[in-house]
Amino acid sequence: MSEFIMAQQNGRNIPLEDKVFGINRLAKEMIAEKGKEAVMNATIGALLSDSKDLVVLSSVVEVLKNLEPADYAEYAPIGGTPEFRTAIKKAAFGKYKPNCFTEAVATPGGTGAIRNAIDNYSKIGDQVLTSDWHWANYDSVANEMGRSVVTYNLFDGEDQFNIAGLKERAEELLAKQESLVIIINTPAHNPTGYSLTLEDWDNLLKAVKGTATPDKKVTLVVDVAYIDFAGDPDEYREFLPKLENLPSNILPIIAYSASKTFTMYGMRCAAMICMTPVKEIAEEFVRVCQFSSRASWSNCTRASMVVLSKIYEDSTLLAKVDQERSFYCDLLLKRGRAFAEEADKVGLRIVPFDAGFFASIPCENSDEINKKLQKEGIFLIPLKKGLRVSIASITEKECRELPAKILAAME
Ligand SMILES: Cc1ncc(COP(=O)(O)O)c(C=O)c1O
Repeated sequence: MSEFIMAQQNGRNIPLEDKVFGINRLAKEMIAEKGKEAVMNATIGALLSDSKDLVVLSSVVEVLKNLEPADYAEYAPIGGTPEFRTAIKKAAFGKYKPNCFTEAVATPGGTGAIRNAIDNYSKIGDQVLTSDWHWANYDSVANEMGRSVVTYNLFDGEDQFNIAGLKERAEELLAKQESLVIIINTPAHNPTGYSLTLEDWDNLLKAVKGTATPDKKVTLVVDVAYIDFAGDPDEYREFLPKLENLPSNILPIIAYSASKTFTMYGMRCAAMICMTPVKEIAEEFVRVCQFSSRASWSNCTRASMVVLSKIYEDSTLLAKVDQERSFYCDLLLKRGRAFAEEADKVGLRIVPFDAGFFASIPCENSDEINKKLQKEGIFLIPLKKGLRVSIASITEKECRELPAKILAAME
């Protein structure tokens, strides 16, 4: 029997409250009761300053404040304004100039890009492949559209990227499916902070090429939601040329979001960008993705598209935005290093970490440990395989204090 009164379940698992928002609410309640100093809220997936305010790039706000009414009142074309489509490709690719067909379609956040990719490049009932540690919303998005998520272990026994596991699962799925969507979230993966190395990428692409026989289709969704908070932006884009001109039955789609990069989380600004050696595949990409957009959210927020276009049309302004972001990126990297160093010092095992908003601690009984920590005013997110810490929302000092406290709660 369905748990719903009027609504239809349609095979979906719909919790009463989103886990992250639920725990965040508990943290806020404790702050209201005991004060700010008594609580360490490491649940939020947004970058907060050391005084716990949301970091908002003032150079972006300035552009936003100077928009004309028509910039935000008018509908945007379904796939995004032409200026935006050019700007977002520049933002995603940086200095790299792809030597293949690339097309961008606007989406409301990286979430929309992932949604449209699954919708158009897998069949209803298909299984989508990603790693065991993954952003929980992949499950919801797939589930909502009658697909499900299957995982491989992200790391092997030596804590290396588990290419054999990925290959094995991909082969299993392609034995029963005509097409396969693989989601790779890198760099600064949520929830572990892991970034694929260039060698990982070579191994991954070799495995995918070996698996995608000419009668099969593989779509590689590269979710780069945190690419501009991982470190040097050029260095972290060095993998992109490897995606150029793969066999035509392997389609890389970059899910590039302005949520973190331009601190426009609420403006719902992003794009899905395809990279293919075949012009017709790029044209088809625009056609099918625009159709899905029209049928779900229709068009995206024009104001954010104009903001991004203006930034990329003015090199002085772009330099200002990049410089401001770089300051906050350094702040975040320091927090990450502090957390990893301290974990190492006290002997707390963490999942291989490189950079970004999150780090994770592997453990079996994450719910239990999390509840213990909550009693001490420490709020983390319990996952199936461990605990997620948002280093983006706590100070460097707290990052240094936290590992010992987690270890104590685990003992
Ligand atoms: C791994 C990952 N991908 C994509 C997103 C999408 O965010 P948005 O839809 O705001 O761009 C998030 C946001 O938390 C994320 O953590």
